[in-house]
Formats: sequence, structure tokens, C-alpha cells
Amino acid sequence: LPKCRIGPSVLNADLADLHRESQRMLESGADYLHLDVMDGHFVPNLTFGHPVVSCLRNKIKDAFMETHMMVSNPDQWIEPMADAGVDQYTFHVESSPNVLTTCRKVKEAGMKVGVALKPKTDVMVVKDYIEHADLVLIMTVEPGFGGQKFMADMMPKVKWLRDNYPTIDIEVDGGVGLNTIDECAKAGANMIVSGTAVAKAPNPAAVISSLRNTVNQ
Ligand code: DX5
Ligand code: ZN
Repeated sequence: LPKCRIGPSVLNADLADLHRESQRMLESGADYLHLDVMDGHFVPNLTFGHPVVSCLRNKIKDAFMETHMMVSNPDQWIEPMADAGVDQYTFHVESSPNVLTTCRKVKEAGMKVGVALKPKTDVMVVKDYIEHADLVLIMTVEPGFGGQKFMADMMPKVKWLRDNYPTIDIEVDGGVGLNTIDECAKAGANMIVSGTAVAKAPNPAAVISSLRNTVNQ
């Protein structure tokens, strides 16, 4: 199984203090930062874009940064995000006119490629482009907001992926915390995004380490 990594989402942290909040997550043992980019069009919410990510990168040089692109035109932001210093560009297959082309452009820009699937999207669609992706993100909530309820019925998608692609990175995102990590781990997820469960915890380090222990069991 690929290595377990915990990537807190800062969406529900204090966004006016993004640098400090990110630093707090990294000091608590986060393996990477999951940055939720929303354009108010693909999802009914707005967050931040490459100008903010670029400023964050200037203050945090060494952390692995993934942008979760919840945007209508993923091709448009590949270059700006690469220039901002993003390591992994995870975009939704539902919003790309040609997923293979988008994958290729992300790779050419020097970033790792993540393909994200909304809850209603059939996991079988990845067959066509899995060779060109480094990671598949299975959404366990409808994208748009932190703090939603985990959808356990997404686990068969994770399991199908793990059975068919033993070495690929599989990420889960949405409602993942101490009560739901067990199912994610059993299904085969190794990249764990957790927002509220980590950011709002009195002791984020304890939550991160117990998430990791559950996956590594
Ligand atoms: C939802 C975002 C998630 C979310 C995670 O659209 O993609 O990353 O912020 O937060 P929790 O863990 O609170 O669901
Ligand atoms: Zn996300």
C-alpha cells in the first residue's frame, strides 16, 4: 500500500490567518496542506485562488501543497498555480472538457496530477485516464463546504480503486475524522484530508497521529 499521508484542509480554519493556521497544522504533524480553491461557479462557495496560494508559498517554503480545484475551468489555473509553487493539482473530472488533456497540461507544468470525483460520479470513468494521474480523490461529501456529514456509501468506490490499482494514491475528502477514518482505511484510502476534525480540535496533533495510526494498522 502506498504511504499514508494526512493533509489537513484549512477551509474551516481562520482564513484571515492562513499562514499561521497552515503552520499550526504542519507543526501538529501534517504531511501536506490541502488547499480548497472554489470559484463560486463549480460549487456554490468562494475561497481563494493563486494569488493567495502564492503568498502562502512565500512564507512556507518546504511543505507539500495540494490545491483541490473546485472550479469550472481547471485548465485556466494550471500555469498560475504552478507559478505559485503548487506541488499537486487536483481537479474535478466533471469540469474538464478533456480530462486527458488537462492531466497532460498539469504534468507539463511540473505538478503532480490528481483527479477528483464528486459523489454522483461513477468511479469507472477513471479507467480512461488513470495512467496519467498520480492520485484519485473520492469526495465523501458534495464539494463546497467543510463540516458536512461523511458519506459512507462512497467506500465501495475507494475499494474498487484499491483492488484494481494497488499502487495509486487514493485520497478521501469530506467529513473525515476519528469516527470515519476506520472505514476509509479499510476501503484502501492512503491520502487523508481532514478539515474540521483537525482544525477545530483542542489537540490537532493527537487527532493527526490517531488518523495516521488507524490507516497504518
Ligand atoms: C469540501 C472540501 C473539503 C472540506 C473538508 O468541499 O473539499 O476539503 O473542506 O472539510 P471537512 O473535513 O470539515 O469536511
Ligand atoms: Zn477539498
